[in-house]
Amino acid sequence: MMTVSGAMAADAEREVFGTLEDGTEIEAVVLSTEDGITARIITLGATLQSLQTPDKDGTLDDIVLGHDTPAEYLATPQYLGATIGRFANRIGNATFTLDGTEYTLEANDGDNHLHGGVTGFDKLVWTISDISEDENGASVTLSLTSPDGAGGYPGTVEASVTYMLDDDGTLTIDHRATTDKTTIINMTNHSYFNLSGHADMRPILGHDLMIPASAYTPVDSGLIPTGELRSVAETPFDFREPMRIGARVRNSTDEQIMLGLGYDHNFVLDTADDDMALAAKLSDPVSGRMIKIYTDKPAVQFYSGNFLDGTTPGKGGTLYRQGDGLCLEPQVYPDAPNKPDFPSARLEPGEEYVHVMKIKTGVAK
Ligand code: BGC
Repeated sequence: MMTVSGAMAADAEREVFGTLEDGTEIEAVVLSTEDGITARIITLGATLQSLQTPDKDGTLDDIVLGHDTPAEYLATPQYLGATIGRFANRIGNATFTLDGTEYTLEANDGDNHLHGGVTGFDKLVWTISDISEDENGASVTLSLTSPDGAGGYPGTVEASVTYMLDDDGTLTIDHRATTDKTTIINMTNHSYFNLSGHADMRPILGHDLMIPASAYTPVDSGLIPTGELRSVAETPFDFREPMRIGARVRNSTDEQIMLGLGYDHNFVLDTADDDMALAAKLSDPVSGRMIKIYTDKPAVQFYSGNFLDGTTPGKGGTLYRQGDGLCLEPQVYPDAPNKPDFPSARLEPGEEYVHVMKIKTGVAK
């Protein structure tokens, strides 16, 4: 790729990431800033495969979990860095009803449906439809057609995801979708963060997290919301002030921590409306790295990586274990299609679904 002459040095480079067993080539696009911040996006799952940011001494390291090969992305059920669709998170009993018609989805999480099913957006090869560089940053757009009935969902869906890296180190992820029949959509990015990086990885239990949410949605034993909005006050779910993750993740007196094997819950954002709002702030006191996540959706799932069990191959010959990464997934509430009181995930023909989220990287001052 050419770099725009005379302008800032934001750059987008296209390269080969690997090949699937059937010979399909998986490409990567590496977006980079003049300061050396890079985001690598691969066409398999429109996945954020790596995100390199500096620590307080300027040392770059990769702050998201991922795999080195396409085969590992297909083999593992962890959704590392992937674009999730059509519906992020769980749908109870793998069914929902729209305008009187009941739809049956794939039950790929016990009796429930999780992250779009067996062949969700994360397992599909996306097409690179645009790459651009200008004085503000570099971007790549990936697109996908999901046929009517895919995974059990109604409507042919045209989906796209644009990753844009600004010169100030903000990665914007812009998800869009249209449909030709009334359907449901809830797309998000499933990055696992570990701000200590990979060279000398430390557990995320030592990170500090802030989530501006006064309520969360408690779950049943299948991790399906009960429908209640519960106050976080005086519970391990109060992150309105920054809290060390490890401080309360082992709290065996809290039924919800026990059900989630730690944190695996949907937080209802206080400031949410259709504008971009802060969803979470995460920092690592040792490296000094910090990220802030913004979204235009009403909630964020905080998942403390409880199902990383040492069987997931990571980058550079590592194995990921519990506490090696955490997800902050902006979304509509889990099981929204079955909960009339939850914000709607409905998409009509002629409308455009949009979810813009931002990962602002930096160093705590
Ligand atoms: C969910 C977890 C699930 C994980 C799979 C997260 O978004 O909240 O319950 O196990 O995805 O990687």
